[in-house]
Amino acid sequence: MTNPILSTKDLSKTYPMNGVTVHALRGVSMLVERGEFVAIVGPSGCGKSTLLSIAGGLMTPSSGQVIIDNQDLSQLSESESARLRQKHIGYVFQSYNLLVDLTAIENVEFPMVLAGLSEDERLSWALELLERVGLADKVDYLPDELSGGQKQRVAIARALANRPEIILADEPTGNLDSATAAEIMDLLTGLNRNDGVTLVMVTHAPEDAARAHRTISMRDGQIEQLTEKI
Ligand SMILES: Nc1ncnc2c1ncn2[C@@H]1O[C@H](COP(=O)(O)OP(=O)(O)O)[C@@H](O)[C@H]1O
Ligand SMILES: [Mg+2]
Repeated sequence: MTNPILSTKDLSKTYPMNGVTVHALRGVSMLVERGEFVAIVGPSGCGKSTLLSIAGGLMTPSSGQVIIDNQDLSQLSESESARLRQKHIGYVFQSYNLLVDLTAIENVEFPMVLAGLSEDERLSWALELLERVGLADKVDYLPDELSGGQKQRVAIARALANRPEIILADEPTGNLDSATAAEIMDLLTGLNRNDGVTLVMVTHAPEDAARAHRTISMRDGQIEQLTEKI
C-alpha cells in the first residue's frame, strides 16, 4: 500500500514568451511517499523549478492536478490552498529569499506570525529552531551580516517554522562552496532521517542527489526515468 503525501497527475505548464509558447512541463505525473527523500535532476531549463513551484502550490498548472495530503489543490479556494501550504510545506530556495530588513530570528518568526502564534510561542520556537541549525549566536544578525551557508540555515529554520511534513528545496546548495553545501545537505538529510520530514529537492549536484532515496530525472518538461536506489 502506498500512502503518498504529494502527487501530481499529468501536469502541463506553458509560459507565453514573446509571442511564442514555452512548454515548461509536458505531462508530469509523480508520487512522493511520506518520509521519502526524492531528488529531481536534469539540465537547466528542463522544468525542475516549474515542477517544484506547482507541486508546492506556489504556481498553478496549465492543466493537471496536484494532490497534497489527499486534497486536490485545484478544488480549494485561494485561502484554503494558502492554509494547506502553510500547514504542510516548507520551502527552501537557492537564493535563500530571506527578508533583508529582518533579523535571523524575525525571519524565522515570520511564518509563525502569519499562522497566528503568540509572541512568546514564536520567540521560543524560533530560538529552538535557530539552535537546531547551529545559529544560536546569530539570532539578531541581519541576512547581509551572514555567510551564504548561514543564510541557508536561517532559511531552513524558517521552512520548519510551521512544522511542515514536506520540505521542497530548489537547488538549496546551488550558491554554496562544496564544504558548506555538504553541511547544508547534512542538515536537510538529518531532518528527513531523524524527524521524518519528506524532502523533495531539485539539485544539479550529483553528490547531493546521491543522498536521496530516489532520483527523478527530467528532460524537456518530462520525467525521463525513475531510478530506485539499491
Ligand atoms: N516566468 C517564465 N516565463 C517564461 N518562460 C519561463 C518562465 N519560467 C520558466 N520559463 C521557461 O520554462 C522552462 C523551464 O524552466 P524552469 O522550470 O526554470 O527549469 P529548470 O528549473 O529546470 O532550470 C525554460 O525554458 C524556461 O526558460
Ligand atoms: Mg531551476
